Amino acid sequence: MSEPSQDFLEKVYSAGDLDELRDSYAAWAEQYDRDVLKMGYQTPGLVAAMVARHVEPSAQPLLDCGAGTGLVGLLLAGLGYRDVRAMDLSEDMLALANARGCYSEIRQGILGEPLEYPDGAFAAAVAGGVFTRGHAPAEAYDEIARVLRPGGRFIVSERVDNDANAHYRARREALAADGVWRCLEASEAIQPFPLEPSEAHVRQQVFVYAKAG
Ligand SMILES: C[S@@+](CC[C@H](N)C(=O)[O-])C[C@H]1O[C@@H](n2cnc3c(N)ncnc32)[C@H](O)[C@@H]1O
Repeated sequence: MSEPSQDFLEKVYSAGDLDELRDSYAAWAEQYDRDVLKMGYQTPGLVAAMVARHVEPSAQPLLDCGAGTGLVGLLLAGLGYRDVRAMDLSEDMLALANARGCYSEIRQGILGEPLEYPDGAFAAAVAGGVFTRGHAPAEAYDEIARVLRPGGRFIVSERVDNDANAHYRARREALAADGVWRCLEASEAIQPFPLEPSEAHVRQQVFVYAKAG
């Protein structure tokens, strides 16, 4: 019998290091879409809606950070964004994203380490479900800001119902205080997994930033 979806979720949240996280996603990849959609996963939809509100359809390229199996990319393709590039630490998740055919480039990479993209390469970057416990560190925001062009947008989801993710907010706000970017909008807080009773208390917001310039 396959593992229940909340067991996979807990495993990726509690991964001790990148190898453990990679192994956990390798084990989950094939079942990921079915599991999170069964839990009513709302993050890709809210991220894509915010992209639609803040990024011209002609803008390109866009970077999907922690693209996973491509649930965000699928929606962006539906909205008419033609050059969306996927990056993720998990080759197993990326293989499924590649099969979707909604990305113009698939690249393995690690948020928290230097990104292999030049300064100002992207019109926008998105990150859905990636800046969370056991995943990308808050310092990765600095690198994302570096690869955005002046005026480029960053759309990111963060968990907001407890203090565990306060360091993400602190880093976002420090970059704003330093004049690197400014906040354009914060969504209302929603349940990312409304159909999963063990996640009913979790709330997530999506934030939209514009790089200075
Ligand atoms: C919960 S999934 C979200 C995937 C997709 N954005 C979605 O909403 O379905 C988190 C993804 O982030 C990736 N990830 C976690 N930490 C990462 C890091 N430090 N650098 C790059 N990718 C990371 C994982 O491999 C996984 O594919």
